[in-house]
Amino acid sequence: MKPKIKTCIEGLDEHMTGGIPQGHVVLISGMPGTMKSTVAYSILFNNAKKENKKGLYISLEQGRDSLVEHMAGLGMVNSEVDTQINIVDMAYLRLNMDEEASEQQSWMDIFKMYAENMKQNMDYEILIIDSLPVLELLGKMDQRREDLFYFFGWLRELGVTTFIVAEATNDATRVNEEDFLADGIIRLTKERKGYDITRQIVIDKMRGTKHNTGYFTLLHDGKDFQLTRVIGE
Ligand SMILES: Nc1ncnc2c1ncn2[C@@H]1O[C@H](COP(=O)(O)OP(=O)(O)O)[C@@H](O)[C@H]1O
Ligand SMILES: [Mg+2]
Repeated sequence: MKPKIKTCIEGLDEHMTGGIPQGHVVLISGMPGTMKSTVAYSILFNNAKKENKKGLYISLEQGRDSLVEHMAGLGMVNSEVDTQINIVDMAYLRLNMDEEASEQQSWMDIFKMYAENMKQNMDYEILIIDSLPVLELLGKMDQRREDLFYFFGWLRELGVTTFIVAEATNDATRVNEEDFLADGIIRLTKERKGYDITRQIVIDKMRGTKHNTGYFTLLHDGKDFQLTRVIGE
């Protein structure tokens, strides 16, 4: 059996026989505010802290400072893991490059070169890309189907386990192109329950692993995530 990467979310790894097979490309998908970025970051943070695994977080939607601050507010203080984790804000990458270099290479080429160089320099095992819609925009993926196909292929060659933050509605029957290409999909949903919003997590797909397909309530106590069975249904 392939080695596994743990999500380190209490209760979740048990539902997929110990974790995510190493090397997988996994989508963390959901609507805005379902805590996709937080779940992705917590996987990186806890793997650094508890499993001594290095990680790279490429943030395209949110600036680095804002991300670090948000995560600290949720009990994940970056300074605890800053020898293991690199967070890079690549959205404005182009603005910081000299004109000549940026004319010769596409944004996508620079993105890939950066991820490959970092792999050589720090040898990270876990990569987060936040998010796919912005990657498509900046990477000018106008032939979506084809471009995504080759991009996923490139990710697998990189030899790391990747989590890509993606968009999805609460409607499980609406399928995106990337859902077929990914090795796994962890979907986050939110629902109105009277005055409150409750969040759920479901494993839609995980190649090479037996997994639970049920919905679990996802709670955050200000420090960690917890999973409980969806109650009251
Ligand atoms: N201290 C906190 N405790 C619990 N939830 C929080 C806290 N701070 C922010 N949130 C929630 O986290 C959400 C944002 O999380 P984030 O991971 O950025 O979501 P997404 O990436 O899915 O848009 C906010 O909409 C808010 O509801
Ligand atoms: Mg986000």
